[in-house]
Amino acid sequence: MKWICGLGLAATLAFQPVMAESTFGHHPLTPQARDAFVTDLLKKMTLDEKIGQLRLISVGPDNPKEVIREMIKKGQVGAIFNTVTRPDIRKMQDQVMQLSRLKIPLFFAYDVIHGQRTIFPITLGLASSWDLDAVNTVGRISAYEAADDGLNMTWAPMVDITRDPRWGRVSEGFGEDTYLTSQMGRAMVQAMQGKSPADRYNVMTSVKHFAAYGAVEGGRDYNTVDMSPKRLFQDYLPGYKTALDAGSGGVMVALNSLNGVPATADSWLLKDVLRNDWGFKGITISDHGAIKELIKHGVASDPQDAVRIAINAGVNMSMSDEFYSKYLPGLVKSGAVSEAEIDDAVRHVLNVKYDMGLFNDPYSHLGPKGSDPTNTNAESRLHRPQARDVARKSLVLLKNRLETLPLKKSGTIAVVGPLADSKRDMMGSWSAAGVAEQSVTVLQGIRNAVGDKAVVMFQKGANVTDNKGIQDFLNQYERAVSVDARSPQKMIDDALAAAKQSDVVVAVVGESQGMAHEASSRSDITIPPSQLKLLDALKATGKPLVIVLMNGRPLALVKEDMQADAMLETWFSGTEGGNAIADVLFGDYNPSGKLPMSFPRSVGQIPIYYNHLRTGRPYDFQHPNKYTSHYYDAANGPLYPFGYGLSYTRFTLSDVRLSAKTLARNGTLNASVTVTNSGKRDGATVVQLYLHDQTASISRPVEELKSFKRIFLKAGETQTVTFPIDINALKFWNARMQYVVEPGKFDVMIGLDSARTKNSVFTLL
Ligand code: BGC
Repeated sequence: MKWICGLGLAATLAFQPVMAESTFGHHPLTPQARDAFVTDLLKKMTLDEKIGQLRLISVGPDNPKEVIREMIKKGQVGAIFNTVTRPDIRKMQDQVMQLSRLKIPLFFAYDVIHGQRTIFPITLGLASSWDLDAVNTVGRISAYEAADDGLNMTWAPMVDITRDPRWGRVSEGFGEDTYLTSQMGRAMVQAMQGKSPADRYNVMTSVKHFAAYGAVEGGRDYNTVDMSPKRLFQDYLPGYKTALDAGSGGVMVALNSLNGVPATADSWLLKDVLRNDWGFKGITISDHGAIKELIKHGVASDPQDAVRIAINAGVNMSMSDEFYSKYLPGLVKSGAVSEAEIDDAVRHVLNVKYDMGLFNDPYSHLGPKGSDPTNTNAESRLHRPQARDVARKSLVLLKNRLETLPLKKSGTIAVVGPLADSKRDMMGSWSAAGVAEQSVTVLQGIRNAVGDKAVVMFQKGANVTDNKGIQDFLNQYERAVSVDARSPQKMIDDALAAAKQSDVVVAVVGESQGMAHEASSRSDITIPPSQLKLLDALKATGKPLVIVLMNGRPLALVKEDMQADAMLETWFSGTEGGNAIADVLFGDYNPSGKLPMSFPRSVGQIPIYYNHLRTGRPYDFQHPNKYTSHYYDAANGPLYPFGYGLSYTRFTLSDVRLSAKTLARNGTLNASVTVTNSGKRDGATVVQLYLHDQTASISRPVEELKSFKRIFLKAGETQTVTFPIDINALKFWNARMQYVVEPGKFDVMIGLDSARTKNSVFTLL
């Protein structure tokens, strides 16, 4: 818990657990004690009380708090989500403890994805840090703030592998690579759950969305997923498995179908794989309304059928629908669902409540009455220094012609663009209980950085989009995007007037946060036309042009790459994003982020990901040949490859050294490179190890990330980085779905991105 050191004494004191009076007495948090307790409790429960435990209800217009409180009294609710303040939560728990028969505490959950009150960069941005300490900071602080608000569980992390930037939810995951996603997912689970989710400032995680939601066809949300078992087990499942092995107490079931079977109806997935093969003991939760949706999927004929299928498939808790409560009693009576099946589901719910420590103290995450914060949005509840530090690490420098960056803190700077001063957009989607007003925009960050040393002029220059349909879409549930009263031309003219008076133009452009969200798929991944026109006009002034991108997915940026003198990818960087971006723009922080997804040149290249299989006719740009695998109307490969990101200094790599030329099956081999900071500034970079199986019984990827190390080197400093390699890094699922390692030659590739590597080769005996 390194980050705690940075907090003042008062904040440190706030970490002391405050125990409310225990209701059920002390129950040791061991599996044996839990099993005995839950078995005993199950015996005392009526069928209705059991079914009540399976209902997870969302507070909202359909279910106002008052109505829910009545249901709680009758034992009809197992858990609550979307309520995030201690007084509200306390009232609901009071209802259980004072008025229900068995006093089985509720648990409280929320989508704490990249922060609760302090908002950190979106998960795709966090992944760009390639820094597990940063993940730990985000996980610890998010859990602390969530638990301090009375919550017990979060719907995170999302470890869906994402290889299609049309899908808006790529913003919520760690990107296209299995290894990076697994490492980060594990770090997040460990950080949020700590030693035990029962501890005062920890929360239980719920890894999502099981399984393969990231592979929806065409990147269209909720669409079909169809994939080979090999790809599923090799690339898509390890992220969930690693998070579960790290102890995640929950699993959220995906909305999509997988090979024809909706995940919510998939007993192979939820029982055979998850429970029997992987030994998962926690709880499975349907996604929002997913049980009802089995009818629309066309696998259930009516509500009863949907409920029968879901519970028998292994969906323990139903999120946000009343189907379990309504139909399970009749289904049990008719014998279509056995009481044993219900008991099994309830046991899992009670197990996680036990693990959350709720049977020891139902108020454990609330503290005593009267201790609630007077102002839930108080500035003192935020963790700004940590948010700024993580945000700086998430920024990726894509281009820097003739050292345009860092900028000088002098002269006149024109800050232009619809995202330059948008507080709401800084936070990104799924910003939990974050308050937009508390976030620092790029404009504010730049002003804070230069003080009175430089003149800063601001012009919006364009609307995020001039498309009325898209504006309405973005403003459907909140007033997220404001539309300027000026005509587009007038906005550009005003921006040009500012640009012409300046020494440099910083254009903050891209997507508004609602464009990269659930149900926000795009068929076109360019910057919207209103902003492209602005960029064209700014370019024409001849002033140095720095493009600061804000977006939640890889964008197609071929023209912008040519126009920009420098380009910085900032994603949606959170509460302290503006200050963090200014730190990089002015060189107070040397950028070190690396892309966790390939950036295609155009939507037509999708799917595009670095670890694709080999083909029989690979394209070779040095010897182009018509009958090879490529598009004839576009350059081959991505615009920016996976793992790519520049620095203000220069890192050089030695050739790869291997400790041996052969590897025994029970042995280890070391691959090393020497990295030198041969530039003038101190800085961090990420050294990446990729492997390639030259010949195997099935076609294997051209390269696969197997390890990485983030290192910091002072100017002129040198460090040797060593990666141990053993057979675990070489295993794969073969054609008969056996997890094997085959002898033969392997390429070892080490680089600072996936495209430019130093290579060597060894033989597995
Ligand atoms: C999303 C989940 C989310 C849930 C609860 C669903 O629509 O797919 O990721 O956790 O809502 O907000």
